[in-house]
Amino acid sequence: MRTTVGIIGAGPAGLLLARLLHRAGIESVVLESRDRAYVERRQRAGILEQGTVDVLRAAGAGERMDREGLRHDGIELRFDRRRHRVDFPALTGGRSVTVYAQTEVCKDLIALRLEEGGPLLFEAEALAVEGAEGDRPRIPFRHQGREDVLECEYVVGCDGFWGVARGAFPAEVSRVFERSYPYAWLGVLADVAPSHDELVYARHERGFALLSMRSPAVSRLYLQVPAGTEAGQWSDEEIWDELDRRLETDDGWRLERGPLTQKSVTPMRSFVHEPMRHGRLFLAGDAAHIVPPTGAKGLNLAVGDVVTLARALVHERETGSPDLLDAYSATCLRRVWQAERFSYDMTTLLHPAPDATPFDARLQLARLERIASSRAAETDLAEAYTGFPLG
Ligand code: FAD
Ligand code: DHB
Repeated sequence: MRTTVGIIGAGPAGLLLARLLHRAGIESVVLESRDRAYVERRQRAGILEQGTVDVLRAAGAGERMDREGLRHDGIELRFDRRRHRVDFPALTGGRSVTVYAQTEVCKDLIALRLEEGGPLLFEAEALAVEGAEGDRPRIPFRHQGREDVLECEYVVGCDGFWGVARGAFPAEVSRVFERSYPYAWLGVLADVAPSHDELVYARHERGFALLSMRSPAVSRLYLQVPAGTEAGQWSDEEIWDELDRRLETDDGWRLERGPLTQKSVTPMRSFVHEPMRHGRLFLAGDAAHIVPPTGAKGLNLAVGDVVTLARALVHERETGSPDLLDAYSATCLRRVWQAERFSYDMTTLLHPAPDATPFDARLQLARLERIASSRAAETDLAEAYTGFPLG
């Protein structure tokens, strides 16, 4: 099998890249190790930055998002049983974010890809990337039990943190920067209308809590739990009781309960692999970098990478110049490191560490007070949350 761009992984990065290339007349094949139902159901991110919304719309993939996505003009920070609203448009010159789940973004992109007839193979596992330094990189893969090879001009690893593409970088080229956190998120989906019309990020001595949503009838909630926790360790009632404690305010706000339909634990990690390109192999999205989820940046970073890469591939095709491809890694990494910084700041602002001292607790509260009382500090948060410009 032959193509121009071989894409490993049908998460948001791989699917959007295939869409952008198709619109520019560049052929690609997407290999995805899981089946379609799995990819469409995997619960993950929920917040799209303004720039991500604009990209999906421009790619002709925004129709349902425009109908069903929920525009949010702010978030609420809760601490000390008080509430502080951050007003995004007022602080950023009109920017906002959209609540539209990653599952829905993937469903829309998969449907478009299959409609337009572009090759997207499910249950097709890439086994390696070979020849990245030469002119004809190859991806040996196994599809429904049979082995085959995809010959490409370029290979893009959009295969997430656990994929194979990163492993094709020679050890002497790779530099890894990482940090793990001593806590994780227990996430649940609940069949109940969200108890607040915007997201609530709560810092509490017992741990962080987040109230988010998937639709006007479905809530998405998260609790900070110790690293290594398994979802089954928490009963539904224990989860609601703990959410109640951590989200409680002095003004009588109430959390509505409903049946939980899903429970899972997400580990927290910061990770960057540099560079994001080696020869004709490029990394995009979680394959190259991970952020802890507190800043809602993971999916948005993946979108930024593939927009930058698609632009560079089109530029090369149209002008013959490899300049933008050569700049790909540095261009993406500038934005990646800003998101790493912001995600780290949001995480350490809101999560008490297991070994936190009373001094650490007071500092967290002072940082929150600063955001609540200084327009400059609040603007810094609003600009980062609504998204950094594409390089
Ligand atoms: P992925 O979505 O991971 O897609 C990679 C794809 O590659 C997968 O479909 C995988 O099956 C496929 N693949 C892997 N190996 C191979 C192979 N060898 N051959 C073929 N295919 C392969 N971000 C937030 O902003 N908020 C959140 O709440 C949040 N929660 C998360 C929860 C979890 C459990 C995880 C893992 C991530 C979460 N994220 C969250 C991060 C966000 O979902 C990711 O940043 C986003 O999915 C990145 O998209 P991607 O396309 O780069 O990678
Ligand atoms: C969601 C996830 C996040 O990581 C976040 O910061 C906000 C919302 C969500 O899944 O809805």
